[in-house]
Amino acid sequence: MNSTSTHPTPAPIRVAVIGLGTVGGGLAEIFATHATQLTARAAGPLTLVGVAVRDAARQRDLPVDPALLTTDAAALAVRPDVDIVVELMGGLEPARTLVLAALHAGKAVVTANKAIVARYGAEFVAAAAAGGGQLYYEAAAAGAVPIVKVVRESLSGNRIDSLLGIVNGTCNFILTQMTNSGAAFADALAEAQALGYAEADPTSDVGGEDAAYKLCLLARLAFDADVQIDDIACEGIDTVRAEDIARADSLGYAIKLLAVAQRRETGLEVGVYPTLVPKSHPLAAVHDAFNAVFIDGDSAGPVMLYGQGAGRRPTASAVVADVVDAALALRSGAAARPEPSPHGGPVVLPSADGLNRYYVATRVADQPGVLAAIAGAMAARGVSIESCVQDGRNHDPVDLIFVTHTVRDGDLRAALDDIIKLPTVRSVAAVMRVLK
Ligand code: NAP
Ligand code: HSE
Repeated sequence: MNSTSTHPTPAPIRVAVIGLGTVGGGLAEIFATHATQLTARAAGPLTLVGVAVRDAARQRDLPVDPALLTTDAAALAVRPDVDIVVELMGGLEPARTLVLAALHAGKAVVTANKAIVARYGAEFVAAAAAGGGQLYYEAAAAGAVPIVKVVRESLSGNRIDSLLGIVNGTCNFILTQMTNSGAAFADALAEAQALGYAEADPTSDVGGEDAAYKLCLLARLAFDADVQIDDIACEGIDTVRAEDIARADSLGYAIKLLAVAQRRETGLEVGVYPTLVPKSHPLAAVHDAFNAVFIDGDSAGPVMLYGQGAGRRPTASAVVADVVDAALALRSGAAARPEPSPHGGPVVLPSADGLNRYYVATRVADQPGVLAAIAGAMAARGVSIESCVQDGRNHDPVDLIFVTHTVRDGDLRAALDDIIKLPTVRSVAAVMRVLK
């Protein structure tokens, strides 16, 4: 038979972008440089039909037709000739309102905004269900690291028992600098700012809030748990001292800011805290501004993903992947991947019910009986000591460092409240969890 068949080119999927800054600019570059590949992966063309910015007159050295620029993001989000809305403006409002409007209008929405997904995720799911829209947020969790897709799709056949993340590049860079050069926190932060890793106001990064938002998204997906941002106990790295890093090193640990979701018998422990990670653990080898997420599933066993958690092209890489997924779903009419049922998984435990080993650095008078008094206070609260080291001799104060066996967090805190009242204890200088 001698016949030829022609396939009509599918209609373009029309994409609107709100925000053309760091990540939006990266998306525009990838659209321009990878157009042919994207057409193949999305089973047809993707066309940029509008871009909302704050200042449309600003000169931008980007492959974007200036005629597409608008300052009316609200109109763009619901325009009838738009299929996918990509929110890359950041902040809570008006980003939340724009995403809700787009979902109600039946659009697929892609966002890199961890704060709105963590805070308003349930509202977005309801709006998508009501309006027929779909929500994608891969870039919000760990930048280029495709962790949302892996947790949501690739590990479907697992009960996930723990998820441990280094999900803030700024903090990991600072801790790496402190480890490598012995720098104090403030000096390492100044270097992170000079290199453009840390914001002028680094509070959200170094205080742990940025990592808590990311943990909130990931823990919901991994555990089907109703995790709210305010449930997440959050400690930053601003109190980590160079001497703790050196001591941890001598004990065989690296200090990392970990975002932790751990299944326990009674529920789910979630928190963000600086943690002593054994040097033999793969997370201890994650340096500089890199991110990594280590997951333990009952079928897969341990899985770790590693990559760049921030930056123009790495973040845009994840956004573009979501745009392609959304385009494929729109072309095929596939239903959205269901969001986790908020009540299908374990309850979130109160922070006092966490179970952890601890590193406790005390400063004490160098006198007979001090060690016994502290050990007694710990024993009275059921805290068992694994090891103790004294640093220094014949001066006041000296450092007494304890590593405990696994304890209930509330019991450790109660013991510390008692210890600080002992007349020979000058201070409790550092308390950090120790990963097993
Ligand atoms: P950015 O560089 O500050 O860019 C923000 C963009 O939004 C700008 O183009 C700005 O317009 C536009 N914009 C702001 N308010 C607007 C409004 N009311 N109407 C229309 N446009 C408005 O931000 P970014 O670093 O690209 O971050 C974007 C999102 O990605 C945030 O949610 C962030 O958390 C997330 N994210 C960023 C990174 C990263 O490495 N940067 C990594 C992961 C996730 P003008 O250009 O006119 O000012
Ligand atoms: N500020 C974040 C970090 C990147 O340092 O990892 C944006 O989520």
